[in-house]
Amino acid sequence: MLELKGLSYNVSGKEKDIEIIKDVDISFDKGKLYAITGPNGSGKTSLAQLIMGIYPATKGRILFKGEDITDLDISERAKKGIGYAFQYPPRFKGLKVLDLLSLASGIEEETVARGYLRQVGLCPEDYLDRDVDPGLSGGEMKRIEIATLLAKNPEFVIYDEPDAGVDLWSFDLLLDVIRNKHKKEGITTILISHQERILSLVDEIILIVDGRIKDVGNKDKIWPVIKDVVGCQRDTLCSRRDKVETKCR
Ligand SMILES: Nc1ncnc2c1ncn2[C@@H]1O[C@H](COP(=O)(O)OP(=O)(O)OP(=O)(O)O)[C@@H](O)[C@H]1O
Ligand SMILES: [Mg+2]
Repeated sequence: MLELKGLSYNVSGKEKDIEIIKDVDISFDKGKLYAITGPNGSGKTSLAQLIMGIYPATKGRILFKGEDITDLDISERAKKGIGYAFQYPPRFKGLKVLDLLSLASGIEEETVARGYLRQVGLCPEDYLDRDVDPGLSGGEMKRIEIATLLAKNPEFVIYDEPDAGVDLWSFDLLLDVIRNKHKKEGITTILISHQERILSLVDEIILIVDGRIKDVGNKDKIWPVIKDVVGCQRDTLCSRRDKVETKCR
């Protein structure tokens, strides 16, 4: 359904360009549930944002349902059916939760927006009229971000650490919502996560280390590799890149 071919992403550093994503080749099949995992700073969010068109690819191509979408911008990719829930959802001063959900669903009916809030465990009476600004807590914002993605209803979705900042009790609910949508509607779904529990639920895990795909497979195959990587990385982020280069590859 979505193919990445030789995808790379560089940013400008002080002296030279820094390669954040390095020559990634992978295909995501329609209707499958994936997890992307890897150490902090390994490039998970960058890869998701390249797919969504938030960052431009430095090299390589992105194909969606056979069509080359590399040169399309975010809104054009969203129209094609690609969706992304941010790790750190942006706030929009002056925009109400109701407006955000109406824009996302394209339906200006309060009852519709209420339904999405209930799905993510937020009481519509308390939230519809709130501004999408820093007044919302991290966990509230995360749920509103997920509700917004449900309202957009894309056929290929990436949730970037949907569990981050969400309490243990509510996370079960959110996970059920995401999984039901995937199961019932066949939505191709990627969960970026560090949680073993999530890794146990998915069809396939993609392990990213230092901007490269290190391995792909089910949990039985990938778990020992993850343990291995963890063993190599019990150190500070600054020395880690060297260790990854020399010992952990
Ligand atoms: N504009 C930039 N300039 C310099 N470095 C950048 C820039 N954008 C991203 N990076 C670096 O790229 C690497 C990958 O970042 P990314 O956010 O994709 O990591 P991640 O795997 O999502 O990490 P986490 O688990 O912490 O969310 C990090 O080392 C980050 O500091
Ligand atoms: Mg990230």
